[in-house]
Amino acid sequence: MATEVPNSWYVNQYDNLANRLAHYEQTGPEIWEQTEGKITHLVVATGTGGTITGTGKYLKEKNPDIKVWAIDSYGSLLTKYFNTGEIDMKEVHPYITEGIGEDFVPENYDMSVIDKFEKVTDKEGAVMARRITKEEGIFIGYSAGSALQGLMQLKHELKKDDVVVVIFHDHGSRYIGKVYNDQWMMERGFLDVKSFADIVNGRVTKRLVTIEPHNTVAEAVELMKKYDIEQIPVMNGEGLIGAVSEGGLFKKIFSNPEIKNETVSNVMEPAYPIVSFDTPVERLGNLINKDNGAVLAKDESGNFHIVTKYDVIQSLAK
Ligand SMILES: Cc1ncc(COP(=O)(O)O)c(C=O)c1O
Repeated sequence: MATEVPNSWYVNQYDNLANRLAHYEQTGPEIWEQTEGKITHLVVATGTGGTITGTGKYLKEKNPDIKVWAIDSYGSLLTKYFNTGEIDMKEVHPYITEGIGEDFVPENYDMSVIDKFEKVTDKEGAVMARRITKEEGIFIGYSAGSALQGLMQLKHELKKDDVVVVIFHDHGSRYIGKVYNDQWMMERGFLDVKSFADIVNGRVTKRLVTIEPHNTVAEAVELMKKYDIEQIPVMNGEGLIGAVSEGGLFKKIFSNPEIKNETVSNVMEPAYPIVSFDTPVERLGNLINKDNGAVLAKDESGNFHIVTKYDVIQSLAK
């Protein structure tokens, strides 16, 4: 394009050394001043090498003890080149993370400024970007997620009083349709989908509380109090025949104040839907509604387990 478009020129961020010079003249001094010279570690997700080389060089001139850590992607040859000096094209494969890693070594690198390279997977970089946005309210881009993930992989090397600066290169607004889109994340296997089984396995008490149709409402209420639950499936021997719920009983109490002496079979609601053990939590959310406070699934030993509206809300909030 630079040869075809009039009055244009090719910036070439890879091999134009003005790239690293800009960071030497600006990013380095900015970090030194803002940390009042206390920085001990610089962490940079690296692509052209301009940021890490320029910033790292300036900081090391100020204090040679500062450690400079580069964060790279799987699929890039930079880490192996740093560790062995070899340009190994077998290291190179397509990856999804944007802005970092290379399939060659750009001129902007001065590897002598860098102390360590650490690789991060596409999944972990994306998951960390979402986590920082959610937990810290800093709406960061993909390579920033990778930078922080790389640092977390190296955190055992840090001491309590270290002052670590991590560069967040870009903004989350560029990744609305990608990292911040659940469907995009799921299609790439980046979101761990929780299922009915995960909720049940996370419980301390596994036994399902049930009641029989000939029991009284008072007994059902007693069970609800005792186990702090709102829904009880009604079982006739092995079979599920209905359910009693706090909400359902509350509605009936006005037309029948003596309800506590009724048998469960006279007041019960329809049985809860039965799903498979691997049903994703998102799907359970569609089955649980105002008439249906819960769903059930049978495990391999034939025992029923329950997941309630409360369980679904809890699991999605985690
Ligand atoms: C989003 C993003 N992150 C990280 C980097 C890496 O910075 P550098 O090329 O200075 O190594 C780039 C570089 O273009 C980038 O676009």
